[in-house]
Amino acid sequence: TYERFNVAIDGPAGAGKSTVARLVARKLSYIYVDTGAMYRAITWYMIRKGISYLDEEQVDQVVRDLMIELIPEQDVQKVLINGEDITPHIRSLQVSGQVSQYSKLKGVRTRLSDLQREMALRKGVVMDGRDIGTTVLPDAEVKIFMTASVEERALRRYNELRDAEQVTLQQLEHDIAERDRLDEGREISPLRRAEDAILLDTTFMDINQVVEAIVSHCRTHVDEERNHL
Ligand code: CDP
Ligand code: CDP
Repeated sequence: TYERFNVAIDGPAGAGKSTVARLVARKLSYIYVDTGAMYRAITWYMIRKGISYLDEEQVDQVVRDLMIELIPEQDVQKVLINGEDITPHIRSLQVSGQVSQYSKLKGVRTRLSDLQREMALRKGVVMDGRDIGTTVLPDAEVKIFMTASVEERALRRYNELRDAEQVTLQQLEHDIAERDRLDEGREISPLRRAEDAILLDTTFMDINQVVEAIVSHCRTHVDEERNHL
């Protein structure tokens, strides 16, 4: 038996974070928390209400009173806003196209980071996002920064989306590169590798190899803890 720990997984769009984080959580019998889903949920809500990201004051005000819930289930994780399940809407191209603009805003980041920290208080959480290792859980025991070439990441997204949306590989590559640029360039908690995060380039790795690599880092962590006792 060992002390429970937290795993932080960050990286750009399409690196494989959510797929891998879910599987790692399953192996450890931990809870998986998809923080991107929370940013997407807020974005969808604001678009529906007609509140532009340019109107920061109004976004801040609305976000303060929103009830945002993440419900971990067997396979998909549900996101509820004010009790309404909006999971089916959050992966659309419209939301993907604007989410980085809403994610820049201070009120949005503060609200969601607070919620995310609360979810990880009791440990035993695998959390993925952009700023988990740097800002949300700087004390996470295992930190991974996952990347892959932009071509590979666009191809992965294309294979997922091409049946549901009218989209070309070239368009996706452009969208992803633009989102990376915004996420890396923003003022508050930009996307970057924490100094103590392990860099994992998954361009030529399949899902199982990535899961195994992370689980093996978790084992190393547990062994180190034992040796300190
Ligand atoms: O799944 P994908 O990599 O496309 O994105 P996601 O993880 O669902 O995140 C969507 C967007 O939310 C990102 O591009 C960021 O703008 C924002 N995000 C963030 O700012 N901080 C996080 N911890 C997670 C997501
Ligand atoms: O969460 P993030 O945007 O980082 O990526 P994802 O949604 O987990 O992964 C995007 C797609 O890439 C999914 O369809 C995965 O099945 C696929 N994938 C892959 O082909 N090879 C990997 N090593 C990781 C993910």
